[in-house]
Amino acid sequence: QKQNEMTTEQTFIAVKPDGVQRGLIGPIISRFENRGFKLVAIKLMTASKEHLEKHYEDLSSKPFFPGLVTYMASGPVCAMVWEGRDVVKTGRAILGATNPLQSAPGTIRGDFAIILIWHEQDVGRNVCHGSDAVDSAKKEIALWFKEEELQKWKPAQFDWVY
Ligand code: TYD
Repeated sequence: QKQNEMTTEQTFIAVKPDGVQRGLIGPIISRFENRGFKLVAIKLMTASKEHLEKHYEDLSSKPFFPGLVTYMASGPVCAMVWEGRDVVKTGRAILGATNPLQSAPGTIRGDFAIILIWHEQDVGRNVCHGSDAVDSAKKEIALWFKEEELQKWKPAQFDWVY
């Protein structure tokens, strides 16, 4: 029971339109698999502005909000749910700092987010989204996925692997 509680934390991760267009879905998935996290849901979808306004509702008063919503609606995103111990916090560490100018090498953003020459777009195209807290992860997962889209499965027990 205890171990189950520890390992069932889930987070919402989305490869943003720039990440999808640049062919970064694979490398991003690999970074979560490499750390032993479990993929429980995945889909490619072009989200509506209304959907993204809900997703980013906490940021609705920010000056960059309209541009953020337009960018996120500009093409398909790869929406995922990852599960595992401390996956919300660790997922944020795997992603790196929001601003590509500050994201450390070794993180997804620090390795892939292009530093744009236009100052006002510095933060904008940062390749990947990850929930910032357990509560927001729950809200985001409920917004992007139906309960039946979340798969329950166990890693191989190795009785069928050499
Ligand atoms: P935020 O939730 O602060 O960052 P994170 O994605 O790391 O949780 O902001 C959401 C997105 O809004 C961010 O990924 C990119 C965009 N954004 C800007 O375009 N300009 C900004 O100044 C900030 C803070 C964010």
